[in-house]
Amino acid sequence: MATLLIKNIGTLQTPVGSFSHKGKEQGQNLKLHDAAVLIKDGIIEAVTCGGQLPCSEIQVDEIIDAQGNLVTPGLVEGHTHLVFGGYRQNEIPLKLKGAGYLDILRTGGGIMDTVRKTREASFEELYSKTKGFLDEMMSLGVTTCEAKSGYGLELKTEVKMLEVMKKLNETHPMDVVSTFMPAHAVEEQWKGREEEYIQLCCSEMMPYVKEHQLAEFCDIFTEDSVFNVEQSRVYMEAAKKLGFDLKIHADEIEAIGGSVLAGQMKAKSAEHLIVIDDKGMKALAEGDTTAMCLPATSFYLGATFAPVRRMIDEFEIPVAIASDFNPGSCPSLNLQFVMNLGYLKYRMTPEEVLTAVTINPACAINRGNITGTIEEGKQGDLVIWNAQDMEMLCYRFGSNQVMKTIKKGIPV
Ligand code: NIG
Ligand code: FE
Repeated sequence: MATLLIKNIGTLQTPVGSFSHKGKEQGQNLKLHDAAVLIKDGIIEAVTCGGQLPCSEIQVDEIIDAQGNLVTPGLVEGHTHLVFGGYRQNEIPLKLKGAGYLDILRTGGGIMDTVRKTREASFEELYSKTKGFLDEMMSLGVTTCEAKSGYGLELKTEVKMLEVMKKLNETHPMDVVSTFMPAHAVEEQWKGREEEYIQLCCSEMMPYVKEHQLAEFCDIFTEDSVFNVEQSRVYMEAAKKLGFDLKIHADEIEAIGGSVLAGQMKAKSAEHLIVIDDKGMKALAEGDTTAMCLPATSFYLGATFAPVRRMIDEFEIPVAIASDFNPGSCPSLNLQFVMNLGYLKYRMTPEEVLTAVTINPACAINRGNITGTIEEGKQGDLVIWNAQDMEMLCYRFGSNQVMKTIKKGIPV
């Protein structure tokens, strides 16, 4: 039986429970001082505070001294496009000359450029590149992450991406939760025939992915010049019927009604929401849909920031924040930077930020019962920080503040 004791924790800070936190609850964290955590066979066995130890030190296999620092749950990354061929640094000069994200996409660049490179890449190339990303994410404090397909736009490449995620979930310490997103862009041959492409997704691709258990969620890019609300509704209804849970890229550039649809369809999460309006926020609240907000994408696109304060205070929507890591709109997987932006740009409190990178995204990817908080019975996923409090984490940026990431009771 492998046991790990983490002792001398200055402050252990965590949300509590296995549900998503909204309104005032978003800002409620448990804070235990002079704490210790005992993890047995990957599961949290006991949490103590006030200088008490949960067992005698000679009973355990390994002891880590947290040296009076902050310990939080392992970070949960709720939105990435982790598997892709190539990069897109060539887009920056175009952007600096004034080309918008959709302008580049409409002329066959952007996502379509990555589609070409992902089709060309072998399974092995994608696997080793993605493994490198997971290693980097773990060194930055992430212990569970979501990943989307969507750079294939045909079954063969979409499946190759999902197989990479599946194999990494089996071989890498990171828990990887897969989302199928064949409706990520409209390839030239489908322009003007988007409904037919959606039919192909629903009647051929989704059943294959379901049958081979390659993804738990389906996602779609509901946006001007991509898929409209009616096409998205057909897609989401088919996905739901097959037993997938739903996600949607909504209101990123134009508010065409994606978040209203998300609420109506009771999607687990609606993502981006940069330009969401009151109707959209009301729908998300009614659908109990998590707002997955992506501030590093706003930063990188030079866009405005989603109205997160109103989501929390007025509409009581559970808010998660994530990186959106992808080669176009956010080539960074640093969730600590996302936390800085949550604090400074969304004006969340440090407690709200912690909820937004732990239990809320965990629930949005159906993992709230096993991770996202430090409580007895949950996985031993946690981070010891080179900082004494959340205020420090949210304030310093650009450096990695992790002292040690621990996944299922094993230091990584
Ligand atoms: O969430 N908006 C659509 N998809 C991604 C970007 C993908 C890309 O540009 O490669 C996003 O920002
Ligand atoms: Fe995205």
